Amino acid sequence: MRILVTGGCGFIGSHLVDRLVEEGYKVRVYDLLEPQVHLGKRPSYLRRDTEYIFADIRDRDKLKKALKGVDVVFHQASQVGVGQSMYEIRKYVEHNSLGTAVLLDLIVNTKNKVKKLIVASSMSIYGEGAYSCKKDGIVYPLLREETQLKKRDWEMRCPKCKRKVEALPTSEDKPLFPTSIYAVTKRSQEEMCLAVGRAYKIPVVALRYFNVYGPRQSLSNPYTGVAAIFLSRVKNNRAPLIFEDGRQSRDFIYVSDIVEANILAMKKKEADFDFFNVGRGKPCTILDIAQTIISLYRKGLEPKILNKFRAGDIRHCYADTRKISKKLGFKPKVSFKEGMKKLINWSETQEAFD
Ligand code: UD1
Repeated sequence: MRILVTGGCGFIGSHLVDRLVEEGYKVRVYDLLEPQVHLGKRPSYLRRDTEYIFADIRDRDKLKKALKGVDVVFHQASQVGVGQSMYEIRKYVEHNSLGTAVLLDLIVNTKNKVKKLIVASSMSIYGEGAYSCKKDGIVYPLLREETQLKKRDWEMRCPKCKRKVEALPTSEDKPLFPTSIYAVTKRSQEEMCLAVGRAYKIPVVALRYFNVYGPRQSLSNPYTGVAAIFLSRVKNNRAPLIFEDGRQSRDFIYVSDIVEANILAMKKKEADFDFFNVGRGKPCTILDIAQTIISLYRKGLEPKILNKFRAGDIRHCYADTRKISKKLGFKPKVSFKEGMKKLINWSETQEAFD
């Protein structure tokens, strides 16, 4: 069986490629080698036993060639900076949404034997997570108002009665509320793939990744996630800078668990034409992350709580993992501490520009 991984030189895609090769599949990688991520170099982890096509996802002719003889496509290629997507709007929409449209157009309109497509979606499409209000039950607040944040009143409030609410696991049926262009394009990727898959009876699976971390994550790209940002700072003897009060939380999942979810999505028929959260289902505060990294590095640093907010940030979102666990038997294996240790061990061999 031949598998195409778009974005297969990236952080998540490259781990997926390793696993697919280990399992004996023939793998072809299609990747742009984005200069902001790869700094103009080929990453050292590229493999000799894998075919590489270095090209843009919007390049119809090259992508058409890449699809030759392919049975399964993992579509991982995307521009990934949330903040950057708010000023490079056209670039993000072109690569992520139009790029996906080119891929789907080829699958539908040219001779090929693609039998399954797995697309990388994101928790960012939810916006805020789900919350519980003592009076109004389950509620889905939108982003906090600036007037609230200016008073350093960080926790979420019920959209109906304005009482403080508590975070709940966010399930797949929470209404979507993307708050960045990146998130809008992730939603479009997921919805386009599922719509085309359902119409043409090509099994499609969308995996909504929560906050992924692990080796090969860019340590110098300012648009990378908080774990890599803190790691670069601590490594360079600088205190992690914490927005708000540090009690905001996320669901951090180690990259090998994300790979496992992709493999299950490919192998299990139960996944077809459906979308799934991929998280650990356990919230972790940003302050905890900073402290874990500092203690694993054995540095005498104190996280610096800024009491400032980053525009567009959500307060809490963690996965309700019941659907993926029940339908695909997915169980994340790597604890946060274990995963951070692995990330730190790897980072010792890397240069990290804070
Ligand atoms: C966003 C995206 C997610 C993407 C991730 C990494 C949304 C809702 N989610 O997640 O899809 O995978 O970016 O690109 O858009 N923080 C600090 N100090 C820092 C950096 C961050 O305190 O130096 C805090 C932020 O304020 C935030 C939390 O850490 O509360 C997490 O930030 P980040 O890692 O950027 O991820 P998300 O915003 O969850």
